[in-house]
This record gives sequence, structure tokens and C-alpha cells, in this order.
Amino acid sequence: MVRRFFSIRGLWAVALVCLITFTISSPAYAAIDSYVRRYLKVTEPVALELDKQGNTKEFSAEDLSAGKELFETHCLNCHVGGATLPNPTESLALETLAGATPPRDTVNGLVTFLRQPMTYDGTEESYWCRQVPETWMPQEQIEKLAAFVLRAAQKAPGWGTDSF
Ligand code: HEC
Repeated sequence: MVRRFFSIRGLWAVALVCLITFTISSPAYAAIDSYVRRYLKVTEPVALELDKQGNTKEFSAEDLSAGKELFETHCLNCHVGGATLPNPTESLALETLAGATPPRDTVNGLVTFLRQPMTYDGTEESYWCRQVPETWMPQEQIEKLAAFVLRAAQKAPGWGTDSF
């Protein structure tokens, strides 16, 4: 009886060690979205262009996963797969972002646009897209959202199609 008691305790101890190891090592991994890992090809931090002057900033897979979640919650209705359903020619494809005035194919360019959406030629405010004020998404958060959009535009298969 005594020996059996000890062996069960031994099993519990092993189970506990496994559980603790798993809990300590898993949260970072769990926070990485599989789409980010698989299609955006990000597991290590990647440097993304902040502006056209060559400044870059590193974003981790966790940052991009957080950005993806923000995108899914607030942007997906109109921009599924990087398309722009209400205005298909102005998609979130890289060349389209790059062709806007001023260009939107950098993190800062995207943030500037989201803080105050403008028409494609930059001459007037646009009321079609969703404006994202500082009070809603502070700089750190909106940069993650922008980083996700930029990386998806660079890497995601089929992102930003205008033919549907
Ligand atoms: C209600 C629909 C709607 C929602 C929600 C929306 N957008 Fe838009 N978005 C548009 C439309 C329409 C345009 C084209 C703007 C125009 O026609 O003036 C646009 C344009 C854009 C552009 C510029 C594309 C280019 O090629 O220049 C970006 C970037 C963008 N949206 C990102 C976002 C992000 C990020 C979100 C989430 C915070 C978002 N949008 C939410 C409708 C939407």
C-alpha cells in the first residue's frame, strides 16, 4: 500500500513538472497567430519600413499577431483579404498603397492615413474608411495594426485582390 501511494505521488510530481514547463514556455508561442507564422513568414522580429527615408522598426511575431487581431476586429468587414469591398480599385495591395499620395506603403504612411483617411490623391478627407483616433488606439497599437497590413501586403498570398 505504502509503495503504491509513493508511486502515485511520483506520477503526480512528473505531471506537475510537465505542466509547469508547458505553462512557462508556451504563452509566447501561443500568442503567435499561425497565419503570421505560415503566410507572413514571421517567427523572428522583422524590420519594416517606417518611412521613405530608410528608417525601420522591428516588429515581433507577437506584435503582428496583435495587429492581425485588431485588423480582424475593426477592418475585416470592408477589407477581407486586403481587398476594399466598397471601392475595389483602392485595395490594400502593396502597389496600390505605394501609388497613393502621399504613399501608404510604410508603417508611418499607414498610420497617417488611418489617423485621417484621405482620398487616393490626398486632396480631400475621405469618409469611407474607418478613422482611428489616438483615444481609440494609442501609437503603439496602431503601429502593430499598420505593421500587419504592410507585412500582409508584402507577403500574404492573394492579398488585396481587386477582381471578385
Ligand atoms: C466601412 C468600411 C471600411 C472599414 C471598416 C475600414 N475601411 Fe479602410 N477603406 C475603406 C474604403 C471604402 C477605402 C477607400 C477610400 C476611399 O474610397 O476614399 C479604404 C481605404 C483604406 C486604405 C487605403 C488603401 C489604399 O490603397 O490607399 C487603407 C490602408 C485602409 N483602408 C485600412 C483600413 C484599416 C486598417 C481599417 C481598420 C481600422 C479599415 N481600413 C477599416 C473602407 C473601410
